[in-house]
Amino acid sequence: MRMERTSACKVNLILNILGRRPDGFHELETVMQPVPVHDVLSFERGGEGIQLTCSNRALPTDSGNLVYRAAEQFRASAGITEGVRIHLEKRIPMAAGLGGGSGNAATALVGLNDLFGRPLGAEALTGLAVGLGSDVPFFLQPEAALAVGRGEQVEPLGKLTALRGIWILLIHPGFGVSTPWAYQNLARFPAALNGQPGRAARLVERLRTGTLEEAAGEFYNSLEAPVLEKYPLLALFQEFLRENGAQVALMSGSGSTTFALFQTESEAREVSERVRRKFGNYCWMEVAGL
Ligand code: C5P
Repeated sequence: MRMERTSACKVNLILNILGRRPDGFHELETVMQPVPVHDVLSFERGGEGIQLTCSNRALPTDSGNLVYRAAEQFRASAGITEGVRIHLEKRIPMAAGLGGGSGNAATALVGLNDLFGRPLGAEALTGLAVGLGSDVPFFLQPEAALAVGRGEQVEPLGKLTALRGIWILLIHPGFGVSTPWAYQNLARFPAALNGQPGRAARLVERLRTGTLEEAAGEFYNSLEAPVLEKYPLLALFQEFLRENGAQVALMSGSGSTTFALFQTESEAREVSERVRRKFGNYCWMEVAGL
């Protein structure tokens, strides 16, 4: 029997980096917001080992793919020897700061666990998720969340009042940004590397009690310092989006996706058309309700 699961993406409403850690990762505080733009994974028991296929030929289908590694770790941890076939239908762009690969890995863990009768509990799944990547544990749950540590310690936030009814426009410029590169190059921007703790909590407070307009000044991303310097087009997107009525325009994660927030769907769609007219047809864009 074939089982299908959607795999959403996220944006970082704030990504405040607090400093470099002895293990090479960076200590951070972030608010991650799920966005209903999906990849689709399908699972089927049978065959030998793990057979992964993907709609996008550019993606590896061996242990270079996080879905494959998630499946490997799930089978080892649950003691499963039966084979599994997995197909990944890709729609979320890659190296985009949208957590597409991390979401796929989390969806694979949960999907496979269901497919094989739930041999693993929530704690075991979280343990595997942490080992697969900093953003993977966030995708084990469906809500906006505050994440700290290297991003793997996740506290679900429930509904954020200021985001109720808000529409998001995602713009991917057609090229990706390497996450390790962005973090390494933060070293040249000491103020951005060593952010003040407490900013994420302040944003959460505003999003819970105020309007989006009141919270808008608290949105922030430390990684814009190196990434916008290297890719000035991303700064031009933000300028254009604000001039065209976006209440918030920010880079997500380590880029290259820019997101903008609007009060209505028609405004978000109208601005996406203007972006296409101004910047050309090479951008991938999506509009979604939060
Ligand atoms: O954990 P993940 O595999 O997603 O991290 C990818 C890369 O991003 C790491 O190898 C590291 O260079 C950087 N990173 C970091 N600090 C974090 C998260 C990621 O330096 N908190």
